Amino acid sequence: MSSRHSPNLDLYLLSQEVEDSPAVNAAEMRGGGLVVDTANQAFYIFESGGPHKQITEIPESADRVLITVQNGFLEFRDEDILLYELGDVHEYGELLRRVLIGETVYRELKIEETSRILSEAGYVHGYTPESIAELLTGWAISSENDSVLDIATGSGSLLKQAVTRLDTEKGSNRLTGVEIYPFIAKLAKIRVRDIDNAEIINKDFFDWRTPEQSELVKERPDEHSRRKYDVVVGNPPIASFLPPKQRQTISKWVQGTRPSLAAAFVAKAVSHLKDGGRGAFVLPKMALKDGLLNQLTESCSIHRIVELPLGLFADSHSVELVILTLVKEERDPQAKKTGIARFNQMELPDNARGLFQQPLDAILENRYNHYDAELVKTSHADLEGRNILRMLSNPSIYDILTSEGFTKLGELSGVEIGSGVSTGNNDIFYFDSSEKEESGIDERFFRPVIKNPPDDIRSISEDVINLYLLDLTRYIETLEAKGMDLTEQRVLEELENDGYTELVEYVESSPLHHQGNGFSFIPNYLGKFQNPNLIIPKFFDEPVCYTVEVDDAVFDSTVIGVQVDGEQRRDALARLLNTPLYREFFQTYAKSMDLNWYRIHITQLREIPIIEQALNEDTFDRLEPFFPPEDDNDLVKLNHILIESYETEREKQALRRYLASRDNFAWSWFLTLPEFDEFQELLESDRKQAQEFVIDRFDQELLDQARQTFRNVEFFEERRELLDDLLMEFEEGHYRGFLAGIVLQFEGVLADLVEEAGGDIVEEDGKTEFKMPGKHRSQKRKNLDNLISQFFDGVFSEYLHETVRQRRNRIAHGDVIEDSRTLSIHFFVSFYALCNACLNEYVRIAQQQDSGAAAT
Ligand SMILES: C[S@@+](CC[C@H](N)C(=O)[O-])C[C@H]1O[C@@H](n2cnc3c(N)ncnc32)[C@H](O)[C@@H]1O
Repeated sequence: MSSRHSPNLDLYLLSQEVEDSPAVNAAEMRGGGLVVDTANQAFYIFESGGPHKQITEIPESADRVLITVQNGFLEFRDEDILLYELGDVHEYGELLRRVLIGETVYRELKIEETSRILSEAGYVHGYTPESIAELLTGWAISSENDSVLDIATGSGSLLKQAVTRLDTEKGSNRLTGVEIYPFIAKLAKIRVRDIDNAEIINKDFFDWRTPEQSELVKERPDEHSRRKYDVVVGNPPIASFLPPKQRQTISKWVQGTRPSLAAAFVAKAVSHLKDGGRGAFVLPKMALKDGLLNQLTESCSIHRIVELPLGLFADSHSVELVILTLVKEERDPQAKKTGIARFNQMELPDNARGLFQQPLDAILENRYNHYDAELVKTSHADLEGRNILRMLSNPSIYDILTSEGFTKLGELSGVEIGSGVSTGNNDIFYFDSSEKEESGIDERFFRPVIKNPPDDIRSISEDVINLYLLDLTRYIETLEAKGMDLTEQRVLEELENDGYTELVEYVESSPLHHQGNGFSFIPNYLGKFQNPNLIIPKFFDEPVCYTVEVDDAVFDSTVIGVQVDGEQRRDALARLLNTPLYREFFQTYAKSMDLNWYRIHITQLREIPIIEQALNEDTFDRLEPFFPPEDDNDLVKLNHILIESYETEREKQALRRYLASRDNFAWSWFLTLPEFDEFQELLESDRKQAQEFVIDRFDQELLDQARQTFRNVEFFEERRELLDDLLMEFEEGHYRGFLAGIVLQFEGVLADLVEEAGGDIVEEDGKTEFKMPGKHRSQKRKNLDNLISQFFDGVFSEYLHETVRQRRNRIAHGDVIEDSRTLSIHFFVSFYALCNACLNEYVRIAQQQDSGAAAT
């Protein structure tokens, strides 16, 4: 397997090696590289220490530039790319000596190979896969005459795709790419060399056509607007760790406490769009968090935000990415037009572009659209970054709803679902207790109504009822039974005769509207029954299912009523529907009205999949101790009881997947969904094989991925260098050192998380205890072990326990350390999974804190 790193050449040593060579006049370190002067040429040689250490300027004196790569030196010459290969020359020093005197053979490289070599050497970071390039340009370019700007061109893969959609023959459309690093810009230049009007600008995007510069153009506004583009696309860099100078630059473009670089790229990008122009970008999801969207909506209409499957990009497995598409135009902030979606599978479906191209409403009509994506519509007023992040982390319920093994609520025998009574906005039908009392109207005409039940109860009893419905239906029925031919007037006369004077007066003095059922003074019963024993509100922020203990109650049309045969079954169903799992089902399945409110319809409720096996006394009793759930441990237990209650493996699997995706799939950086299933099965059947399965799936790429995560993600800022060193130990085969170091980092990363979350860390008797913030009584101090299990569902906890935890303690106490690769892999995988989970938790807590702050 090839290593994906730069050769880590020590240029200083290299300079010493060539210094004495007769062709060399001088060799010295300058401008971050090595400058070698020969009699007639100056060479500049440099190597990458990773994407963050790249040079942005090549010394002017350099005639030739050599880039150190894995297997030699690479040189861009005019329009050719040459590779001087190590081959039978084994040493870089010797190879350089030969290049200096022109005695080496070289090989000409094509763009793709160059890209690969540069990326393997750690120079190029974040190559955009073709499918994504196709998607962005395919949506954004609407005419073959469009002008196109790529804001972070890299090797030019987006421009290359753009060309396929443009009529470049005519030479009328401008194509511009901006790339900060000189030789990457060269790569892009070569890529577009045959296209008229294509220009690659080797500049920092933030120094290019800045507002200050465009001030000059203001005097010539035609020129100014002519310079804008029909289309702006980009896959800006992901780095969230920024040097202070860069932070300052980007703060001109985006507000917020810690704005991301990618967000600033997009903010500036839209300033280069013409009115009506289209922008399409791939961004880390976190770039949306800091007010970017609000800012964009001032000048743009956001078209879609679509979360991409994890692992789609070779270089960014662990970074969650979204595509953002927008149109530059003024827009009413209330317009409900943005589609927010996530793909449900690990790979991009073939027809992914349809999700962007079809009108939103058309896709939403068929909720289980064939793009295999969850999609909701939202208003621009709702486009607050944290909310979007929350919506995007809503899990997929698709598998469960479409799995045949689940019975739908509407199909469950002995269950009826109905809608409540409607009064056509005639408030005169409703009386509170004192109004009822004061009215003098006879009790027989009132029925208790269930409307807006309070949040803090789960059972509706007499004392909760504070609303009554004035209802003459039964009275009229008795008259009808006597064979009377009834008119409104006739009914009133009968009432009068029977002595219900107050009622007659009330009805006669009330402005009643006809509701089309003949009598204006009776409400409209919509559903089949009037006395439900379960109810679910149609609108909710936190969905709740209530049992009804009141006789003869009617329910208002804001509530859906359910009738269940048998009290025991009713209570079991109520319990099931109140589990956290079902609350999530409701919320993902119901229609979101804004970002905090959902509305469920009767048809949707009928479709809710029911774990039928859980509707028995035994499961009811087993769920009982964890109600109401107080912390993640309770949630995990409840979910496990539900999963276990299922008899068939297929449905168990569907639920597990659902729950795994809810935790953002702690393993998704490492295993695909089918692999995860296989792993789970092995874990249950043969632990040893499960461990081997993990070992088999480990490769160098994973280490690189972890390195990128540690380098780029702010959360790891404090321990970045340490982790980097440990990964190096691993790579160099110093497993003993790696193991001794990594065991301490488990606690370290959790400590960072607890600290970030505002919790406490207490050292006592050589033991560390953590307390996550929270009011619940069970949020007491925890040691590492139970903190870990708080984050993961059973599968992961088990794996950690089996493979790592026991040995971790021994290693931490200085007991024998096995110098073993296998053990190191286990520790690495577990540690990195913990890091990913902590990151998720970190985001979740930040969101909570944010919404908490917003609420106060
Ligand atoms: C994720 S890559 C884009 C990949 C590109 N679409 C491709 O497929 O090659 C981001 C690119 O932006 C470049 N970049 C980083 N900072 C920049 C800046 N301030 N101005 C312009 N380009 C920059 C990086 O060198 C990198 O090539």
